[in-house]
Amino acid sequence: MCGIVGYVGTQQAAPLLIEGLSRLEHRGYDSAGVAVLGQTAGLKVAKLAGRVRDLDDSLPKRFSGRAGIGHTRWATHGPANDVNAHPHIDGKGQVAVVHNGIIDNAAALRTRLTDDGVDLASDTDTEVLAHLVARSEEDTLEGKVVDALSVIEGTYGLAVMHADFPDRIVVARNGSPLIIGVGDKEMHVASDLAALVRYTTTVAHLDDGELATITASGFTTFRPDGTATQRAATLLDIDVSEYDAGEHESYMHKEMLEQPAAAERVLRGRLDERFGTGHLGGLNMDARETRAIRRVKILGCGSAYYVGQMGASLLEELARIPADAEAASEFRYRNPIIEPDTLYVAVSQSGETLDTLLAVQEIRRKGGRVIGLVNVVGSAIAREVDGGIYLHSGPEVAVASTKALTNMFIGFALLALQLGRVRDLSIADGKRLIAGLTRLPGQIEEVLAAEQDLAAIARDLADAESLFFVGRVRGFPVAREGAQKFKEISYRHAEAYQTSELKHGPLALISPEVPTVAIVPDDELADRNIGALHEIAARGGPLVVVTHAGVDLGGVPCRRIDVPRNERELDPILLTIPLQVLAYHAALTLGHDIDKPRNLAKSVTVE
Ligand code: AGP
Repeated sequence: MCGIVGYVGTQQAAPLLIEGLSRLEHRGYDSAGVAVLGQTAGLKVAKLAGRVRDLDDSLPKRFSGRAGIGHTRWATHGPANDVNAHPHIDGKGQVAVVHNGIIDNAAALRTRLTDDGVDLASDTDTEVLAHLVARSEEDTLEGKVVDALSVIEGTYGLAVMHADFPDRIVVARNGSPLIIGVGDKEMHVASDLAALVRYTTTVAHLDDGELATITASGFTTFRPDGTATQRAATLLDIDVSEYDAGEHESYMHKEMLEQPAAAERVLRGRLDERFGTGHLGGLNMDARETRAIRRVKILGCGSAYYVGQMGASLLEELARIPADAEAASEFRYRNPIIEPDTLYVAVSQSGETLDTLLAVQEIRRKGGRVIGLVNVVGSAIAREVDGGIYLHSGPEVAVASTKALTNMFIGFALLALQLGRVRDLSIADGKRLIAGLTRLPGQIEEVLAAEQDLAAIARDLADAESLFFVGRVRGFPVAREGAQKFKEISYRHAEAYQTSELKHGPLALISPEVPTVAIVPDDELADRNIGALHEIAARGGPLVVVTHAGVDLGGVPCRRIDVPRNERELDPILLTIPLQVLAYHAALTLGHDIDKPRNLAKSVTVE
């Protein structure tokens, strides 16, 4: 959601800003805009509701300036239209502001400004910032921004330009990421690394409560009271090609196929084969503290919540610790009881999901211990937690999570192993799990190798307006994740149910028009699952069954997908992979924009 870019240097800013914005498109947005500032030409702004390419097409020929800021907006205050798009300017067109986050006291500030005779052009919370900066009587741009922020309540990542200070951009962070990129006689700023890596991999992350001044020759960071924070830039060790879709028709396709390599990365250095346990130094807990955990509560949103349910099963089965997962978006609102001997686990690819971040803050405020399973290094959740496991999936651009989700599952398996081995999990079982985890990357590759067979099934499923995904116990979160992926990108109604619950209601909906994707692993529930398949088939419901080779489905008519066998506890992730491929090919058949599904954003930074 919402993205910020900025540039100060020797080149024309506009093309660089447009390129940067196009790199942020995956985050989800409904309008876009840029402002440029020349030494003498003053401030120019262009913005509209629509895509970045529409903005590019709309730019006037003479839109010059060697400093500029840009924004992709996801509407919160006021509809998506040209006026509400960022940048926002003051009445004289001297100040331009782009802003991510939400100003909680915007209504009061708008009233105060209106009472003072200020004309507000938009419905947004951000516009007040432009007026407040313009009205400040401080001498410097830095002083004016600090002055404006002193009356702001809420969250922000923001960038400000002022026609009287054409050599600089002032940026500030409070709850919404901002990264400074250092170039050669030029400086960049962005809310997401994806917008910077084409230009530089030498970066500095701002902390909450920090501001920075950016000029062509460098940057300085400071606190609102003016004290310098001496933040230094570091060279990132990243593969820039990971931020490109390359040969693939979409990022989702690329990211699905990257799963074997990503799975190897999350396992690297984290398996202790001698003692049959996990080796997770980042948890920041010794064996005594680990043993003292009596319960595990997992929090995440969307797919991160569903993989959290898979993680809870792993923890209960392997470590025999009561564990459950809850939607982080609901948790905070029921005044949760925080227990000192509960380990709280926040799961997030982006590390920015506001609902998850707020849940973490609520737990820590009440004295609970939280660890994170997070992909984006240095993200807000990663900084907030007491310890954690980085997922090492590499950048995930597509809205539909694939490789991060797989690594979340593996992260939970490692956690369960480590917690289990300080309890009753035997060394033999620990070693059995380690052998299973080591086999996983190759087996994921095997499932992905069947892509064309899965595509043929997906093409048929794409015809259905409505589908069920069903599973039991370990298979139920798999069904939930399968339905989630399918609905996200195919826009078909896909509903997940426990197979055992079908007869208590939804069986009424089964018909030849409503296919069911059933998760039937070779486990202790296989016979019962197969019984349910017969009930569906008897009502004419088309079936796709995700199972293991050798499982006798009793002649039920179905399309069958066999996944490789591993240890039973690790079944869920191998059962999930084909469901990603089914969703992907159904969406492709339907001609949808797979990486940017309608109404969705990659990082959901609003409540
Ligand atoms: C996954 O395919 C979805 N796009 C979505 O449910 C996502 O998992 C959720 O918004 C949480 O995101 P996070 O992992 O970045 O916190």
